[in-house]
Amino acid sequence: MLTVEELSFGYTPDKENLSDINFTIYKGEMVSIVGKNGAGKSTLAKLLCGFVTQNHGSITLKGRNLADDTIKERAGYIGYVMQNPNQMISKPMIYDEVAMSLRLKGMTEEQVQEKVHEALKICGLYPFRNWPVSALSYGQKKRVTIASILVQEPEILILDEPTAGQDFRHYTEIMEFLKELNERGITVLMITHDMHLMLEYTERSLVFSEGHMIADTTPAKLFSDPQLLRRASLKETSLFELAKRCGLDSESYIEKFIRYDRQVRNK
Ligand SMILES: Nc1ncnc2c1ncn2[C@@H]1O[C@H](COP(=O)(O)OP(=O)(O)OP(=O)(O)O)[C@@H](O)[C@H]1O
Ligand SMILES: [Mg+2]
Repeated sequence: MLTVEELSFGYTPDKENLSDINFTIYKGEMVSIVGKNGAGKSTLAKLLCGFVTQNHGSITLKGRNLADDTIKERAGYIGYVMQNPNQMISKPMIYDEVAMSLRLKGMTEEQVQEKVHEALKICGLYPFRNWPVSALSYGQKKRVTIASILVQEPEILILDEPTAGQDFRHYTEIMEFLKELNERGITVLMITHDMHLMLEYTERSLVFSEGHMIADTTPAKLFSDPQLLRRASLKETSLFELAKRCGLDSESYIEKFIRYDRQVRNK
């Protein structure tokens, strides 16, 4: 679906903030992007969306190089949900916020309504369609921003810290919702500091450190590799510690735990 090759970028000429990044994302994957503050995760998202342009390397979507596509064109296939919904929402009414990009494309109000209603239904916001944004909770606002991206029918959804600042109930609600979207065929990339999210919801992790991608691995493998964790400045989970103390193979133990946790959660 998406191939990044030899991608390098610096905000200023004297420093590279991302160097020689290479990876391929396959259709239908749900991948986490992890690494400490300043590692370059959001910069990567900005490059994919075309907010900034690489100094070197290429981004291809289904075999087509995106170099000449405008931000607006890319938004049609790569949707970017920023961390803070309050920075994304610009209209007072929910309906208008979700409709905005479609109206800008010049669709008729009838076409707009059909798409907006569909996206609002998927996001569980249809009953609130005539409400002002200000009446919503933080988690609901997050859903509004996801709905306003979904109406554009992207093939890839990039979410920057989808669950930051949420309590456990909203965390589960948002993550189960993203899982559902993923099961509908949308490829999902999630930038996250939340190690539990990464373990429980993603099967692959791209690990960033100081502008380099230092691993493309599974979360269970990542947590069983103390050296890699240290390089990425990530904390070992208590699961790893427990496995170690019990003399168990940490990778298979973590995998088993997560499988069990998923089963129980889905009941
Ligand atoms: N607009 C900008 N101008 C100059 N430097 C920037 C700009 N935005 C980010 N940087 C720098 O680029 C590097 C990567 O930043 P980036 O925001 O991509 O990190 P991140 O991995 O998303 O971090 P966080 O986890 O804190 O969100 C950092 O050194 C940061 O200071
Ligand atoms: Mg960031």
